[in-house]
Amino acid sequence: MKQLQPLRGTRDVWEREAKNHQEIIKKAIEHAELYGYNYIDTPIIESLGVFQKTLGETSDVVGKEMYQFLDRSGDPIVLRPEGTAPIVRALLSLKLTQKLPQKFYYHGPMFRYERPQKGRYRQFYQMGIECLGIDEPLIDAECIALAYYILKDLSLPFSSLTLHLNTLGDQESRSNYKRTLKEYFETYRHELSLESQKRLETNPLRILDSKNERDKLIAAEAPSGSAFLTKESSLFFDSLCQFLNILEIPFTLTPSLVRGLDYYCHTTFEFRTTALGAQDAVLGGGRYNGLVKNMGGPDIPGIGWAMGIDRLASLIENPLKTVSKIALIPIGDNSISYALTLLNKLRKEKIHCEMTYRGTVSKRFDYAEKQGCSTALIIGEEEINQGTIRIRSIGEKQKNEKEITEKDLITLLKKIDIS
Ligand code: HAM
Repeated sequence: MKQLQPLRGTRDVWEREAKNHQEIIKKAIEHAELYGYNYIDTPIIESLGVFQKTLGETSDVVGKEMYQFLDRSGDPIVLRPEGTAPIVRALLSLKLTQKLPQKFYYHGPMFRYERPQKGRYRQFYQMGIECLGIDEPLIDAECIALAYYILKDLSLPFSSLTLHLNTLGDQESRSNYKRTLKEYFETYRHELSLESQKRLETNPLRILDSKNERDKLIAAEAPSGSAFLTKESSLFFDSLCQFLNILEIPFTLTPSLVRGLDYYCHTTFEFRTTALGAQDAVLGGGRYNGLVKNMGGPDIPGIGWAMGIDRLASLIENPLKTVSKIALIPIGDNSISYALTLLNKLRKEKIHCEMTYRGTVSKRFDYAEKQGCSTALIIGEEEINQGTIRIRSIGEKQKNEKEITEKDLITLLKKIDIS
């Protein structure tokens, strides 16, 4: 029979990669809580309506990447492709719109039916934050600072990262710019890629971040968005840049940074790395002032970001930390209940230990060595009667063994470097 494999674009995350995922999440949570964000865990499945209109029907995610199906009751369900729309849905479902601001952080799997390649999966993992209810450039700066310090705290080549920053302005700025871009790109219609020709009709802004080489050349000469910013939008962005300068967070202005989801306005940003190839964005986000209203709620502003844990994990340089453990080696059936009680006692003391489950003494030693144990506790009937335990190092040529009373055991084990 053919062996079952994980689905294309999905994988089992284990060993070093799993450790790196845990490390990233742990550090990110520490920082997010320091900035006053609270954990929220929204469902992985949501109704289609949460994403369809909100991310933009012309966005790639909604157009071709959503895992969408009818459940057994015939209701349209989506495996969440991202975390922002579900959090806005939760804000409304939990009736939190009267208790603003709300600052959330989240982490977990997201699903997009994309063409898998290095750094791009169909099930991938994000950690993100969303701040709802504050429309000030100060919070935009704070959000970006939080991302910056999390990334700085991870053991990855931080110098390979660049913060790209742009503004799309408010609704008025965006519509004016879109109109002008449409006119500009129309003159090159037949030279554009098929994808961009489609975007000319649906969202000409997205042509600016096309990966097609010919499109890129045409887009490089396109009118700049900054000329279309309303006075308020321009002031908002200038303040943000000033705050980032005060915080000494370096950034590059990237007018082509329009982002793939339609809910953005004003600030957009992305941290990109030179160490990963084509899938270079490790964290992206921006402001989404129209989203809550678009989902049927009041006019509440929002800003946030999400980082790609898979991509960051592949950049982490930590050697895999192994925990050195204590093995319990009971000799004879009569020692088992004593060994089991001792195992329990040691674990209560937070000492990493393993039972050797069966076999001769030498088989049990082999098992303990394979499990990465550094020290064995040999528990025989005779020792139990005397209230002692034999302690021996594992894997060393010279048999280094001594006898110790149970009373002194825990103090001694805590002194051995076991974690
Ligand atoms: P996004 O740019 O679509 O934004 O995703 C954020 C990050 O998730 C990307 O920078 C990337 O590192 C990672 N990512 C996205 N797709 C994949 C994939 N197929 N495989 C591996 N990693 C991937 C959002 O999702 C927005 N919700 C961010 C946001 C929050 N904006 C405002 N608040």
